[in-house]
Amino acid sequence: MHTQVAIIGAGPAGLLLSHLLHLNGIASVILESRSRNDIEATIRAGVLEQGTMDILLESGVGARMQSEGVVHHGIELAFGGRRHRIDLSELTGRAITVYAQHEVIKDLVAARLAADGKILFEVSDVSLHDLQGESPSVHYTHQGEPARLLADFVIGCDGFHGIARPSMPQHLRQDFQRSYPFGWFGILVDAPPSSEELIYAQHQRGFALVSTRSLTVQRLYFQCDPKDDVKHWSDDRIWSELNTRLECADGWALKEGKIFQKSIIGMRSFVSTPMQHGRLYLAGDAAHIVPPTGAKGLNLAVSDVRLLARGFEQFYKKGSQELLAGYTETALKRVWRAEHFSWWMTSMLHTFADASPFQQQLQRAELEYVVSSRAAATALAENYVGLPL
Ligand code: APR
Ligand code: PHB
Repeated sequence: MHTQVAIIGAGPAGLLLSHLLHLNGIASVILESRSRNDIEATIRAGVLEQGTMDILLESGVGARMQSEGVVHHGIELAFGGRRHRIDLSELTGRAITVYAQHEVIKDLVAARLAADGKILFEVSDVSLHDLQGESPSVHYTHQGEPARLLADFVIGCDGFHGIARPSMPQHLRQDFQRSYPFGWFGILVDAPPSSEELIYAQHQRGFALVSTRSLTVQRLYFQCDPKDDVKHWSDDRIWSELNTRLECADGWALKEGKIFQKSIIGMRSFVSTPMQHGRLYLAGDAAHIVPPTGAKGLNLAVSDVRLLARGFEQFYKKGSQELLAGYTETALKRVWRAEHFSWWMTSMLHTFADASPFQQQLQRAELEYVVSSRAAATALAENYVGLPL
């Protein structure tokens, strides 16, 4: 089998890239190790920047997001028993949409399949070959048969644990990383929304986040030991912890309900450079990870593939490799900005077991500044809604 662009991984990065290439008349094949059912059911993030919404709408896959997603014009920061609103729209003229990542996945899969796009699910043994020449190839197994996909380019959209990044020569790569001594305990709850906007809460017992999925399903998180086990957390214990961390002097209270999903996610910051080697390009989590506090993971994947789609359009229509050659440099500028923002939000809102009383006072001073200075609030807001592409 031959195609122009071979894409490893059907996450948001791989699927959107394939869709954008298709709109430019460029053929691609996606190889995905999991089943369609699996990728459409995995619970991940849920905040779309304005620029991400714009790309989904402009490329014709935003209809359901527009009708079922909810536009939020602000977020709240809670600390010291009080809630403070950051008015994203007033400060930046932009907003965010809360729409679950797996719904974006469903919309993109449906669009690719409706256009006869080729996605091979449940492939295994994927390996990359001849990445330095003009005809790289991907070897894999599908339905028990070994197979080979020849392509002009290979794009690793296979997430943090994929095979694309390790396929680059180790000695040419530099990785930057930081892990955090905590994770997030996430739950899904059958309940009406407790708040019209997301609440990011700092508390001495640890961070908590009130997010939402719909009028009937809510998404809540709280900082936890990353090695903890969900089995140790009864529903009562979870509600007690969340209620303590989110307690507010104004009488606001969480609306509880039936918890139907519990999971613990780790937190890390990670960047791998370069994002291109020969004919192999990396996009999304394959090249970088952010802690979820800034809600940037999905949005960064989208900005990477937007750059790649433009690069391939220029290559196939004009024969120029200029944009593709600048991919690492251009993409990493946005990546590092998001890395800083995500690290900053994480540091400002979480409890660090080893923080000295001095550091704790600095953390409080920073929160007070962000909610009382228009300049500081704007810095948070413009990063949160996403800087212009
Ligand atoms: N072969 C084929 N597919 C693979 C392989 C492999 N060796 N390894 C991983 N995959 C698939 C995974 O099953 C997954 O569906 O690649 C896909 C990677 O998707 P994501 O992890 O979602 O990564 P990405 O598309 O970069 O999306 C960015 O934003 O909200 C954040 O971390 C969150 O998933 C999110 C990300
Ligand atoms: C989510 O709803 O899953 C979510 C929201 C905001 C974040 C992270 C995750 O910062």
